[in-house]
Amino acid sequence: MLDKCVRDQWTVGDLDWSLAPPALPRDKEEAVVQYFTDMAGIERLAGALFAAQARKATDPTLRAIFASFVVDEERHAVVAERLARHYDAHRWRTYTMAPALIAFRPHFLRVIELAPPEIANAYITAGELMLDVALLRSLDDYVGDEMSHRAMHLINRDESRHIAIDFHMTEVYASDQFLAERRLRPAPPLADRARGAAALVQMLWYAQPFLRAVFLDPIDKTDPSGRRIREAFKRIQLVARKPTVARLPFTRFMITMQDLINHPVAGPIVGGVLLRMLGGERRVAARLFTADELTRAQAMSFEELADDAVGAKFN
Ligand SMILES: [Fe+2]
Ligand SMILES: [Fe+2]
Repeated sequence: MLDKCVRDQWTVGDLDWSLAPPALPRDKEEAVVQYFTDMAGIERLAGALFAAQARKATDPTLRAIFASFVVDEERHAVVAERLARHYDAHRWRTYTMAPALIAFRPHFLRVIELAPPEIANAYITAGELMLDVALLRSLDDYVGDEMSHRAMHLINRDESRHIAIDFHMTEVYASDQFLAERRLRPAPPLADRARGAAALVQMLWYAQPFLRAVFLDPIDKTDPSGRRIREAFKRIQLVARKPTVARLPFTRFMITMQDLINHPVAGPIVGGVLLRMLGGERRVAARLFTADELTRAQAMSFEELADDAVGAKFN
């Protein structure tokens, strides 16, 4: 993987930026420029998450892989900014990053710093699946332009490495070996655990407006069928049901919440409050996989699941 990370590096200058931007109606131009502006912010957030992972990694190869991901995400952010400028043909207005993204960022970073690694990794994996499988793909289709297609092609190649490692870390943090090693270490002091829990609660409060402004609203506009967002959340739900992952307390809690939200009696009563607390929306909390898909996913390795998720982008 590290060889691939080194081999597949590229620069913003590899793209031919001299292509003429297409003539877009005002409404579409404003939407596209805004989404690319926000995309730059999401890519930088992803970069900060990988920087935290790199700091925490004890294995030098893994640390080098995460460090290369930090470089990838900054490159994606710069490309997103260039794309925003590229499509801002009429200068209808000035564009600034979504306030919900700015508000969410410090809380998310605190969780990554303080929460147990499997929880931090669960959010990173979910975020990358939403970004790569749903948002970027829908946005690229919506723009329907060669400049965006070429940029997204290179970005997707990087993202397939990121998702492979996200899934690999999911497997590691759910493994018998990791859990056994953790049992041998002294538990973190109560004050630290309380700080971690408080950070998680604060983050979740900002998560729903963030999810809506930066992912769901843009995806609704760019992929009104909802196919890609369901696809992304289905991947999240399926990896959470791998037996080793499903036994972790955090996953058990999330699956119980999902069952409650979808419960015919309890769901309508407590569902809204639970969704607000968890940062989600009802349509992505629905059970999105079939029994056959579950059986198929259970028989796959984590590596195969990652490949399958990345492949889903090209359907
Ligand atoms: Fe990225
Ligand atoms: Fe990424």
